Amino acid sequence: MTLRRMATAGLLAAVTAVTMSAVAASAGGPRPPATQDQSLRALAARNGLSFGTAVDAAAYTDAADPQYKVMVDGQFSTVTAENAMKWESLEPTRGTYNWAAADAFVAAAEQHHQLVRGHVLAWYSQLPGWLSTGIQDGTIDGPQLRALLKQHITDVVTHFRGRIWQWDVVNEAVSDPWETPSAIHLGGNTGSLKQKFADLLGPGYLADAFRWARAADAKALLFYNDYNIEAFGDGGPGDKTQFVYDMVKKLRAQGVPIDGVGSQGHLSTQYGNYDVFQVADAMQRFTDLGLAVALTEVDARSLMKDAKDPTLAAAGADLNARDQASAYNYHVLLQACLMNRHCLSFTVWGFTDKHSWIPNWFKDPPEGAGNLWDANYQPKKSLRTVQGDLAAAGPPLVQPRIPQRPRR
Ligand code: XIL
Repeated sequence: MTLRRMATAGLLAAVTAVTMSAVAASAGGPRPPATQDQSLRALAARNGLSFGTAVDAAAYTDAADPQYKVMVDGQFSTVTAENAMKWESLEPTRGTYNWAAADAFVAAAEQHHQLVRGHVLAWYSQLPGWLSTGIQDGTIDGPQLRALLKQHITDVVTHFRGRIWQWDVVNEAVSDPWETPSAIHLGGNTGSLKQKFADLLGPGYLADAFRWARAADAKALLFYNDYNIEAFGDGGPGDKTQFVYDMVKKLRAQGVPIDGVGSQGHLSTQYGNYDVFQVADAMQRFTDLGLAVALTEVDARSLMKDAKDPTLAAAGADLNARDQASAYNYHVLLQACLMNRHCLSFTVWGFTDKHSWIPNWFKDPPEGAGNLWDANYQPKKSLRTVQGDLAAAGPPLVQPRIPQRPRR
């Protein structure tokens, strides 16, 4: 047994011991090594992987809920501001920046030796009201929006220069197959803000956004980020992953300074699950282009009631099956990431059901229960699965990460 293997075996035992310790103590059995760090960041670090979370600024500073901050600081090696770095947060009034919350977030990350994922620069959503209104009513035209976006990217990336590991430079630029027209395209539904944003900027805006970001920070890794790109579909006109693949391949071929693709990883157990190899294949196709990849916003939610039995959630029935399906989804994304040496980070979009965007966003039908810890900070099956996957990972299948060199 190699040293590394022995360490793995020790960790596995220790991970189990965390939950078994109460039983073991009463039975007089073995106790876990008290000094071993069982945090997600420590377990992930064994393979050079960064394990992250989105941080809800209000929860982080809520003195009535100290557990939230303790867990952010202790469990994670990379952090993403859930909202504090979005355009609406940084420039609520045109021409006046409000850096306070974002600065506090980055300072806290540095204090806890965490890498920062900057989120987000070019995105049609969560724009300040003055900007989204102008786009909607036509008072801001294409050249104006382009100039505003250039200024925004330059100002924000310059402000945080040297302190951001990965920037989500462009987020959710392409449509979904259920939108109109259904063939995947830049933008979204006809007439939507998403479509207007894309049309006003014109198809060249992605290349420009990456170039503007690179001009302001030579070292940050620059990512395209989107959801529903975890696996390829049929390769046809409705295959979003294929569209994104073709898009970033073209950007690479043009010499655009894009370094990675972020796969958000918002999954729901009401849909079919991917398997590990479908996700691993997709990652490999992206990394074969010379790109890094990252899971950037993972959660795996479930329906909280059933159309046939609306009291299901209240009764607690079937939630065990949903918890297991959720755990399986985390497992698939994490194992695929572990197996690809260019998968640099695995970030969850919140870690407790107590503070989650899911119930606020997915209301009809209601969904929830998508995070690793429950609303009382108790471990769920998804957490135990992730801990087990990290503890059991190692060579030959799982090798240390290969750092990405920022493209000039
Ligand atoms: C979400 C936040 O979690 C919510 O608090 C906010 O109200 C809406 O945005 N994709 C993204 C994230 O890139 O920025 C979104 O975050 C979730 C979907």
